[in-house]
Amino acid sequence: MTTATQLDNLAIAALQDVLVNVAELASQAQQAHWNVRGAAFLPVHRWLDELAQTLRAHTDTLAERIAGLGGWPDACSETLSERNTLESLPFGALTTGQALTAMDTGLGRVAAVAAAWLRNPAVDQVTADHLASLCRDVQNQQWLARAQQ
Ligand SMILES: [Fe+2]
Repeated sequence: MTTATQLDNLAIAALQDVLVNVAELASQAQQAHWNVRGAAFLPVHRWLDELAQTLRAHTDTLAERIAGLGGWPDACSETLSERNTLESLPFGALTTGQALTAMDTGLGRVAAVAAAWLRNPAVDQVTADHLASLCRDVQNQQWLARAQQ
């Protein structure tokens, strides 16, 4: 029989798995905000800043849910580099097209990780609501990334 503690531990694992990917993508969006160049620079530069802020807000929500369940949220740089499943953002200048494609791909990856946990029936409803809220925003942002290309 599955205990309440085991269910909380599963939810913590789900949230931590998503947290590292969202935190990494927030850093990549900020980096792209700084390094993007070229046609349509200004709207892309501004959108990347908004995207980073949206993702950071979600890291806070995910991390505080972990803490609320009795876990220890971990988004330190070492943990992010070990556990995130995103492609790395290239060093240096990015064209607007490269930046938008990278964000499209990263957002899709985050949505897939969260959706995989959402399909797990052992994830509690409140945690699932957090993940669904994240998916909603991430899929909307993915549409914005694609629509600008
Ligand atoms: Fe800025």
